[in-house]
Amino acid sequence: MIKKLSIRQPDDWHVHFREDEMLSVITKHSSRINRRCIAMPNTTIPITTSNQAKNYKSIIEKNSNHKNFEALIPCYITDNLDLHDFSNALKQNLFIGGKLYPVNSTTNSSLGVSDIKKIFKVFEILEKEDKMLLIHGEKVSEDINIFDREKYYIDEDLQIIRKNFQNLKIVLEHVSTAYGVEYIKSNKNIAGTITPHHMLLTKKDVFFDNSINPHHFCMPVVKDEKDLLALRNAACINNTKFFIGTDSAPHHVREKSENLNTKAGIFSAVCSLELYTEIFDEEDSLNTLEQFASINGPNFYNLPKNERIITLEKNSWYPPEFTEEKSIKIKNFFGNKKINWKLL
Ligand code: DOR
Ligand code: ZN
Repeated sequence: MIKKLSIRQPDDWHVHFREDEMLSVITKHSSRINRRCIAMPNTTIPITTSNQAKNYKSIIEKNSNHKNFEALIPCYITDNLDLHDFSNALKQNLFIGGKLYPVNSTTNSSLGVSDIKKIFKVFEILEKEDKMLLIHGEKVSEDINIFDREKYYIDEDLQIIRKNFQNLKIVLEHVSTAYGVEYIKSNKNIAGTITPHHMLLTKKDVFFDNSINPHHFCMPVVKDEKDLLALRNAACINNTKFFIGTDSAPHHVREKSENLNTKAGIFSAVCSLELYTEIFDEEDSLNTLEQFASINGPNFYNLPKNERIITLEKNSWYPPEFTEEKSIKIKNFFGNKKINWKLL
């Protein structure tokens, strides 16, 4: 039985760092594990300009506890971006790409994209600059069931984007269905991030007769056993199109309630790499963890792989139930639950 595992240091290609006090409390958790993180731009005032990107990057890096830690910022795409600033910021690597939130699909997405036809210029610029389009792939409409949003997004909007911009590189964020996994596997220029929670939970862990567990509620919502298995398989099978994106998304406990008006988001930064390692161990795939955690991401993003080696040990521990500091209190995913691996 493997007791110790050394791999290249990972990166997390999808994290929410928030702002102000929350940012100062949580950043050290992601930088404990990762050398680089993509910092999602859905802050209260979204990051839509090069100046905001510069400031946000510098605030996050200051709050990390490692001098080599790097925050990479995608631009929050709106219906009316300043395209001149956007294009320049991509050229200068101030933006790593653009993040497309369909309007009202998740936290702070009210300024998201109302119709993809309105942002064809943005796609054109990303394609020309060889920069990434990151997509929250959910079609939101009254007549689409919450569990079917990913499939509708793929069949409708994503198909149109890919047909019109065949060289545009796309990351389908937090893939949550077997359907999404198959789509990524069988198409060109598209990869996917996979969260730990989508490989650990099903809808039975979230939805009860008259209430929900708000600490397991996220967007996209977790799905069925068959989806969970397809995601585990995609992560573990050594397919270069899948990599880490925890979607670690903290909300203060007071923002969480046991109904569908609750804020969506699961905070996993306290133990994310340990959870991925446990999943790979359960799947008898520790030999492919490094590929998923530390190689596929940089390769897809055309960035160098990290040189530093980190070591995980098989040694059980219990993350605290809450991250609590200053006036912040967040429920930790897997808080008070046993985890069998620990990053040294
Ligand atoms: O559950 C989620 N929370 N999904 C997202 O896409 C956004 C995130 C957040 O920012 O809270
Ligand atoms: Zn997210």
